[in-house]
Amino acid sequence: MKNIDNYVPKTLEDYNRLYSESVINPETFWEKIAETFLWKKKWNNVLSFDFNKPEFKWFEGASLNITENCLDRHLAYIPEQTAILFEPNDPNQKSEKISYRELHRRVCVFANVLKSKNIRKGDRVCIYMPMVPELTVAVLACARIGAVHSVVFAGFSSTALAARINDSECKVLLTADGSFRGSKVIDLKSIVDEALLKCDSIKSTIVLKRIASDVKMNNNETWWHNEIEDVSDYCEAEEMDSEDMLFILYTSGSTGKPKGMVHSCGGYMIYSSYTFLNVFQYKTNDIYWCTADIGWITGHSYIVYGPLLAGATSVMFEGVPSYPDYSRFWNIVEKHKITHFYTAPTAIRALAKHPISLVKSNDLSSLKVLGTVGEPINEEAWNWYNKNIGKSKCPIVDTWWQTETGGIMLTSLAGVTNDKPTYATKPMIGIQPVLLDKGGKEIKEKEKEGILAIKYPWPSIARTIYGNHDRYKNVYFTAYPGYYFPGDGALTDSEGNYRITGRVDDVVIVSGHNLGTAPIEDAINLHENVVESAVVGYPHDIKGNALRAFVILLDENSNIDMKKEIKEQISKTIGPIAKPEIIQIVPGLPKTRSGKIMRRILRKIASGEKENFGDISTLLNPEIVKQILIKS
Ligand code: WTA
Repeated sequence: MKNIDNYVPKTLEDYNRLYSESVINPETFWEKIAETFLWKKKWNNVLSFDFNKPEFKWFEGASLNITENCLDRHLAYIPEQTAILFEPNDPNQKSEKISYRELHRRVCVFANVLKSKNIRKGDRVCIYMPMVPELTVAVLACARIGAVHSVVFAGFSSTALAARINDSECKVLLTADGSFRGSKVIDLKSIVDEALLKCDSIKSTIVLKRIASDVKMNNNETWWHNEIEDVSDYCEAEEMDSEDMLFILYTSGSTGKPKGMVHSCGGYMIYSSYTFLNVFQYKTNDIYWCTADIGWITGHSYIVYGPLLAGATSVMFEGVPSYPDYSRFWNIVEKHKITHFYTAPTAIRALAKHPISLVKSNDLSSLKVLGTVGEPINEEAWNWYNKNIGKSKCPIVDTWWQTETGGIMLTSLAGVTNDKPTYATKPMIGIQPVLLDKGGKEIKEKEKEGILAIKYPWPSIARTIYGNHDRYKNVYFTAYPGYYFPGDGALTDSEGNYRITGRVDDVVIVSGHNLGTAPIEDAINLHENVVESAVVGYPHDIKGNALRAFVILLDENSNIDMKKEIKEQISKTIGPIAKPEIIQIVPGLPKTRSGKIMRRILRKIASGEKENFGDISTLLNPEIVKQILIKS
């Protein structure tokens, strides 16, 4: 097998050379990268695609199992190296180092447990668990036997969980009795109990004892620790076609129900691994920590798959940055001598608000590379991160990508290409971004702003939306035919560096979480005293964006605390992360004559604008703008 290191750039010249190769002859390029992995059968064809159908097939005819690449492959060289370094929520509890050998053993055992539940290749398994090592074991055990994992972030409500389980008809649910998050103990099991009342497809549920609570177990519910007793640790890896489904991960759309993005085995493996090595420039013995949750794509690609494929040590943190106090992240960096630290701008902004002594009391000298992901990083936060955490000596990789892209698309490569505050900078090797004008024409000049699009497939592009290929086509391939359209705007500087300017649709990114405004409105409207509502995003110091809801009530004089009830309604339907910062009761909403809510105006009001609303005379009800302003 060839060594992937030979294709990981170490200098700017290497990057330029490899980038050119990857766009001049993408198939030859990706074939060389693919040859550094373990396959059961080789491909007949590297790539076939059609942006109109849309259809993308990478490494057709090949077969593999991603867990053999994540685990088995490393056993001959680095069996005792730590694969997962677990840091629990409670700093007084011991951290745990799980070697590649041990992780392999636990994955095989649990894969056999899943088989005993009648789970076969192609079956969907829902995972709703806290950030503990068993979550990684669960993910890999599914992949081992060819079951499709659908991880649902454990902060989602029972309604959101049920909707995701039902959409992909999961057969088994893996969960825990509860979870620790900072000083809170969250009763996951009762959320699960409520969800399962609405889910017919689940035949068995396996519950990890995490908080040792006294929970009631229903029919077909068993304890994790009982299930793994006396189970063989030998489990042959299922042979998967390169294009077989590896996982489904739900992401919010601007309208309608969440989209179950489907990723496939071969292409995702190659791209998550290759980007990890390129972007972070991980070297043997480095300790890499990504603070995301595995419930999001960042955790899938850059806590689990990317690092493990590279034989790296990946830190899993159960807790939150504020517990026991705001120095927790920096305590962990010092404690585990973290070399790579990858987090979200919202976390940086929150941490920067606290006394700098909380940073300074820790030895951060082990750090070599910093990263950010999830939303644009503002200059002030970038500078704070650079100066106080990186001590002005660590490159900062600002990585732009999406659930749909599977891996990092625009970024600098740590220490290899230049970073620039607020810019995601350059395309990853193999990625061909363009800016389009509103008419869909490519903008060739630099220092322009436009709509970001990608004009050639890459191995980990999502293959479809589970159960709804038409929607996949409509959302990503219809507005600008012949391109992948991610829904973000961008601009370029004189050197062709990209800066993401934000979403161009109704998705708002709050603290790094994608939230569609329509589903939140739907949740508000469920309340019997609500006539109509509109939710918009506005800039927020720490969260990046926050939500403001404008709500028309049926009875404004009722005694119930409507703001409280609306928040509860949203928590119940979607989850606490979707609660608006501000709820304003309004007598009406600005509408066009065709009845469309003018969100543009509401966005301005939410951002503090008092007078410049453009021409509002064509509105159905122009007087309403003033009335909303008076009350705001
Ligand atoms: C936004 C997270 C600016 C963007 C990996 C994208 C970013 C959406 C960045 C995807 C960044 C992500 N700079 N914006 N570095 N990274 N975004 O699916 O709007 O949770 O479309 O994937 O987050 O969010 P998702």
